[in-house]
Amino acid sequence: MKYSDITKLKYLAQDKNSRSANPAIVRNSTVFFKSMQELINHENLVKKGSKVNFYEYGRAGSQTTIALQNFITDLELGYRTFLTPTGFGAVSLAIMSFCRPGDEIIVTDAVYAPTRIITSKLLKEFNVKTHFYNPEDLTTLEKRINKKTKMIFVENPGSNTFEFQDLSKIIKLAKKRKIITAIDNTWGTPLFIKPLKLGFDMSISSGTKYLSGHSDVMLGSLCVNKRVYDKVRFCNKLLGYRASPDDAYLVLRGLRTLDVRLNKHQENTKKIISFLSKQNKIKEILYPFKRGASNYENWKKYYSGSTGLFSVVIQSKKRNSIYNFINSLKLFGIGQSWGGFESLALYQSHVIQRVYRKYLKPNNHIVRFHIGLEDPKDLIEDLGKAIKKIK
Ligand SMILES: Cc1ncc(COP(=O)(O)O)c(C=O)c1O
Repeated sequence: MKYSDITKLKYLAQDKNSRSANPAIVRNSTVFFKSMQELINHENLVKKGSKVNFYEYGRAGSQTTIALQNFITDLELGYRTFLTPTGFGAVSLAIMSFCRPGDEIIVTDAVYAPTRIITSKLLKEFNVKTHFYNPEDLTTLEKRINKKTKMIFVENPGSNTFEFQDLSKIIKLAKKRKIITAIDNTWGTPLFIKPLKLGFDMSISSGTKYLSGHSDVMLGSLCVNKRVYDKVRFCNKLLGYRASPDDAYLVLRGLRTLDVRLNKHQENTKKIISFLSKQNKIKEILYPFKRGASNYENWKKYYSGSTGLFSVVIQSKKRNSIYNFINSLKLFGIGQSWGGFESLALYQSHVIQRVYRKYLKPNNHIVRFHIGLEDPKDLIEDLGKAIKKIK
């Protein structure tokens, strides 16, 4: 029987052996075998990529991490999932599995800042060239494709500026030339979009964010299709990535309520945006909420929901007044990350780097919000008071 995602979230990873609603937390390094023959047979099974219930050594994971891997694979409709200690680990695993000296990689200009550094600085040391494309103009991507192009790295929507791209067009360009594709799908989660079904080879999620949802754990997942599985497995093993069973368990527990939490994040965010869009101090809201706008149309085409992270553009000659606005918010924490139960606000203009500088203009300030699960009425009242500080 085929279950809906909502049912899957509740049903997957039950432990049939212990008759428990959840899998056990198995911490291990050494795994015992009954005989050398059994150990060798098991190693061969793992080498072939067969699905197993345990590994021959703790570095590859335990029953708990396998439960989470299978859970995410089912939700992503993928072939296999690799877990990494952080979301950024999944980004680097995807890239380092494929890019080799002489290759080129084409990356969205609106990429998460550390991903930008890994491609433009670290890969450069290995003689891999990076090009950035404009997520709002895919001809800039097409123009960069040549015989050396190994990978297209997409992040959707863009970090901090939230551009939504026409993803099928990217897949079409890549497939024609057999280029590997990866997408950082942390914003949408595999509940609201299935990148592998669209044709991406790899789908990345920072489990630190919505998958866990409680701001108490860090983890990454890289779900892959069959085409790229062997290469990623090879690299994963040799780079020594491993997620801790305790962390995997926390992410798995968070996943049980992913649908409930995301719906509430979405509902609250829409209310906050409706309030902010009436404030004349807010010049632009970077979120897919206006029918007819290109980010709305591309969001609608590919996503079944929207989440709680967005930015606003504020125009002011007084940057300090924007800091005062953020500092005087009582219910919005000032801090990194997002995707937890709590609301956050962060000034971002100073850390954003772009080749295509649409939003990076003098006196434009980008403030990123994450809307949590608090009562939206309280959040609106808080924002209403703080907004007066903007001069
Ligand atoms: C879009 C995106 N991808 C990846 C990451 C990295 O995740 P982690 O913090 O779990 O390493 C982040 C973190 O903020 C992010 O915003």
